[in-house]
Amino acid sequence: MMINKRTLRQVVVFVSVASTICIVLFCQTSTWSFHTDACVCNCAMDSEGLLWFSQRYKPSANVTLNTKNSPLDFHTYWWWKSLQNESTVADYKKVVEVLFSLFPDKDHYSDTSPSRCRTCAVVGNSGNLIGSHYGALIDSQDFVIRMNEGPTKGFEQDVGSKTTHRVIYPESAVDMDETTHLILLPFKILDLQWLISIFTTRHIDLTYMYVKPSVKADRNKVMILHPAFMKYIYESWLQSHGGYPSTGFISLIFALHICDEVSMFGFGPTKDGVWHHYFDDFSSDSNGGPHDGGSEGEVIAQLHQKHRITTYKGWE
Ligand code: C5P
Repeated sequence: MMINKRTLRQVVVFVSVASTICIVLFCQTSTWSFHTDACVCNCAMDSEGLLWFSQRYKPSANVTLNTKNSPLDFHTYWWWKSLQNESTVADYKKVVEVLFSLFPDKDHYSDTSPSRCRTCAVVGNSGNLIGSHYGALIDSQDFVIRMNEGPTKGFEQDVGSKTTHRVIYPESAVDMDETTHLILLPFKILDLQWLISIFTTRHIDLTYMYVKPSVKADRNKVMILHPAFMKYIYESWLQSHGGYPSTGFISLIFALHICDEVSMFGFGPTKDGVWHHYFDDFSSDSNGGPHDGGSEGEVIAQLHQKHRITTYKGWE
């Protein structure tokens, strides 16, 4: 009777341990397959690609500036201040205070989730867009991020007509309509002061060159790229090559942080190796000047090869 009781107890213990193990294994398997099924965007990266990407991509990076995340550590502050050798010494903290009494003071795009699939087109200003017929494809993306003066009027068939975001700095600013987010790429404190000025006093019309004292844009759609985000791009993505990243490269990494699928248009030379714009004969300095076009091109090629972005060259 004793033996039977003990045996019975052992059987009960064995069955409960075994069923617990089974339940855990089942849950793990179903969770794994759930994640696999739930991959609605960007599912093509293999483990080697994922490792390469995770060594560069910092999900916790502050993309846009707000009051809460505005304090800059010593190194970031001086790195940023040195970009354009700013000599004036406006108080960064005070300028930030005014900034966010005027513009939305929030954590933009903190809505990342495995079920989100936001598609983005990043449209550079390369002449390789001419004759590409990419317009409809560009417009079909959720966000269309353009930069500097890149126009759409008269170029719709090749570049599309939708602009949800336009990345600019004072020296490259243009008017935009009320559907577009003005994204300021600040290289100095004066750029932040200029942003305030274009919506208020309109008294700043000179930086290192003439700048527009007013810009048509919706004040409630303004966002400012975080200086620390620019430093992170320079160090983590470009391994500190060149002076600082180009507007196009910064816009691309911005897109990687706020979108789930990224397509790139209008980057690089034309088929004939020319680096001009699609809208004028002006040659971009994206392959030279303070920017290391070679390193940027290599990262873009790797991102494409590893299926993290799709690049459209305009020719093949
Ligand atoms: O010339 P701009 O700076 O206005 O061009 C915006 C961005 O478009 C550049 O920073 C660069 O990344 C990209 N571009 C390019 N090739 C060109 C012209 C522009 O890759 N020929």
